[in-house]
Amino acid sequence: MGKTSACGKVILLGEHAVVYGVPALCGALQGGATVEIIAGQGRLLVPEWDVATPPLGELLGPAPLTSSLAQALRAICESAFASVGRRLDAGALPYDFVARFAIPTGAGLGSSAALSVALVRAIDQAAGLGLTEQHIDAAAFAAECVFHGSPSGLDHTVAQRGGFGLYRRGQGLSPLGDTPPLRLCIGHTGRARDTKGRVARVAELTQQQPELTTACFARIGALVEEAVTALRQGDLARLGQAMNENQALLRKLDVSCEEIEHVCQLALAAGALGAKLTGGGGGGCVVALAPGREQEVRSAWQAAGYSSFLVEVGGEPPSLSLSQQAKPVMHAVATANTNIALVKYWGKCDPALNLPAVPSLSLTLAGLSTRTEVWLDPSLVADELVLNEKSVDGEPLRKVSRQLDRVTRYLGLPGRPFARVLSHNNFPTAAGLASSASAFAALTVAAYGALLGETALASPLSRSLLSSWARQGSGSAARSLFGGLAVLGVGTPGQIDSAQASQLVPEDGWPELRLVIGVVSDEAKATSSTDGMTRTANTSPYYSPFVAGAPQDLLEATQAVLAQDLARLGRIAERSALRMHASAMAADPGVVYLRGSTIEGYHSIVQLRQHGVEAYFTCDAGPHPKALTTVAQAERVAAALAAVPGVKRTIIASPGEGARLVSVEALR
Ligand code: DP6
Repeated sequence: MGKTSACGKVILLGEHAVVYGVPALCGALQGGATVEIIAGQGRLLVPEWDVATPPLGELLGPAPLTSSLAQALRAICESAFASVGRRLDAGALPYDFVARFAIPTGAGLGSSAALSVALVRAIDQAAGLGLTEQHIDAAAFAAECVFHGSPSGLDHTVAQRGGFGLYRRGQGLSPLGDTPPLRLCIGHTGRARDTKGRVARVAELTQQQPELTTACFARIGALVEEAVTALRQGDLARLGQAMNENQALLRKLDVSCEEIEHVCQLALAAGALGAKLTGGGGGGCVVALAPGREQEVRSAWQAAGYSSFLVEVGGEPPSLSLSQQAKPVMHAVATANTNIALVKYWGKCDPALNLPAVPSLSLTLAGLSTRTEVWLDPSLVADELVLNEKSVDGEPLRKVSRQLDRVTRYLGLPGRPFARVLSHNNFPTAAGLASSASAFAALTVAAYGALLGETALASPLSRSLLSSWARQGSGSAARSLFGGLAVLGVGTPGQIDSAQASQLVPEDGWPELRLVIGVVSDEAKATSSTDGMTRTANTSPYYSPFVAGAPQDLLEATQAVLAQDLARLGRIAERSALRMHASAMAADPGVVYLRGSTIEGYHSIVQLRQHGVEAYFTCDAGPHPKALTTVAQAERVAAALAAVPGVKRTIIASPGEGARLVSVEALR
């Protein structure tokens, strides 16, 4: 039905000094937010945050609105309808508005302003209001006041106009005409920005050391002028120098921090001409100008655990309707094997970023795989998911959309068409065979292929980076990027790329290994691993000891793998699984995945061992007993598990390969 968009913003030079009358040089970030119009009841949906406002009828009712999104939507509707004298009632907007971001939110890049402007445009389009640019400005500002109290107005003005501009307090934005767009790298420090605190600190400094601050502001003013000239003349070296000098002054004003300095240093060492914080400082983002060296800068950041993306700054705002362009349909296919954890991941140190609280080690299993196809199709009006030949919506579809949005953002793309995703597992879904591992690994790789096109096949991205993206969908998925035995580290709270997987031994490195699965039930489990581990972390007295013991388990298991010592590895795997289940069972209410057949399976594996068979029990968030063993003994172990009452069939799996991009094509 249509799609609108608006830009984000980046401050290139002049932040903080702007509060004291110096102009700030800012540029529009292409593709800040898009809003899709679909049939509905006047709600705003933000799939990335998993939130939806109540329908318009409720928004206009007497009940107070608690969510700022709902308040912002109401403020926009009231302003927009009033400005053209149209009546606003419950039936005025038989549409829903689906917002997506192509820039990180809450990072000082103007995402709320981009959302506000794109939403005003969408409401204008849907209701046929015929708003002027002034009306759009007023309605978007009303929303920005809900989000930020008393904003300067810089963000939504840039979001609306695009291009570069000089923003002066009290005078608004003067656009800089005739300035070619710039490519910039934006790196996230992983630390939340502290705009309020840093503004207060500068205010304090103006009292304590007025000479210092006055001199800094004056020099920043001169640098802004130099930067404008450099931008106009395309003199990027001079622009970079001005950025560096501005950063040195910001440091003097006490608005930088250790992480910002580190991110800047890494960029400069990798060949950037200039690097500085952008916005409030104290954390948040760094902007680096590195013409022709963007990939080197981003790799240096990535290696140090900082996430980043590429942007084009200062271009004209994209055309208002992005949907029905003659763009090709992109199609990509990927496969991924599932994996079984020998040292278990159970618990998160940062649930919002899905960062594990414990390290884990796994074996990727040949033949237990997911094949996923992604079509990015400009003619679709919403994302679609077909899982094992059945059309699926609700939470599984939302998770898929979020993952597609993530990959889009990480690739630095301004947005994406809607997608049709077809996924097929050749083993029971959600029954403790860790289907989310292969599912998110295959989805991440297929999305990456469809979004990037043939470049994805020609020069593939690092598996560790893809594993970090897959991990955000599901922790265990990170390990399925790798074949053989893989390790996923513990995360650092707040640092999104801090937990990436790596390969310990390739799939042909220990070819005798086998995993035997006793399949107990093909039904989906009652408690998902995410819910199970959350409840364990929140309520189980045994969770902390489990977490405390995990690094030792990983250390010993790693040594055992490198020495190909199955007895030692098996003992640790068994211990890790039992401890994970013990801590889960001690939650309140208990999280019990084990069934009678699981326990019987355990006993039969222990008994086999007493008869000299090398077999070691493990079990995931499901009922299936599993045994780690060797190729020579696998049949015997399978026969023992098959004899356990309740075990319907057995599977013998050998070490498998990591996730793979099978094909990418553009269909006209
Ligand atoms: C028991 O990876 O499914 O299989 O990150 O919340 O999606 P989320 O959890 P998930 O958990 C897997 C748990 C496990 C152990 C493991 O694979 O390490």
